[in-house]
Amino acid sequence: QSGRGNRVESRIVRVAIGSDHAGFDLKETIKALLDQLRIPYEDFGSASTASVDYPDLAAAVSHAVVDGGADRGILVCGTGIGMAMAANKIGGVRAAVVWDESSARFSRAHNNANIMALGGRTTPADRAMDMVRAFLTTEYEGGRHERRLEKIARLERKDS
Ligand code: RB5
Repeated sequence: QSGRGNRVESRIVRVAIGSDHAGFDLKETIKALLDQLRIPYEDFGSASTASVDYPDLAAAVSHAVVDGGADRGILVCGTGIGMAMAANKIGGVRAAVVWDESSARFSRAHNNANIMALGGRTTPADRAMDMVRAFLTTEYEGGRHERRLEKIARLERKDS
């Protein structure tokens, strides 16, 4: 997983990141990790702990991922739940609420998640770091999972 020094072996070129007020502190911590790993990111806000509505940030990051060329998205609210609910309304998004390193890894390996949603009020910062590393470095396994993801895509297209 980790390469030379602070670098991680990752094909990620660009990350879109966003939070609401409840996720702001953890977002800032994750940005410091991305800096350390030299993974470029675009921060869509929020810019402080002043109260904002998480669907606005979820939409901005989701559009960056599906239309804007970001390889992965990271969303942080109080629990990750509202962010994932909102992000998953946008076509092409596969947002996963993750709670530990293992769920972050499986969200990639089995679900090909393109957005991870974390809880600023529920996830300790050190655990979040392992989760972000796992999310950014784990490849999708394809194979039997592909048929299942295609079924989800059909639900999205409402043709099944
Ligand atoms: C904000 O208080 C909180 O409801 C929000 O951050 C999030 O946890 C929603 O899922």
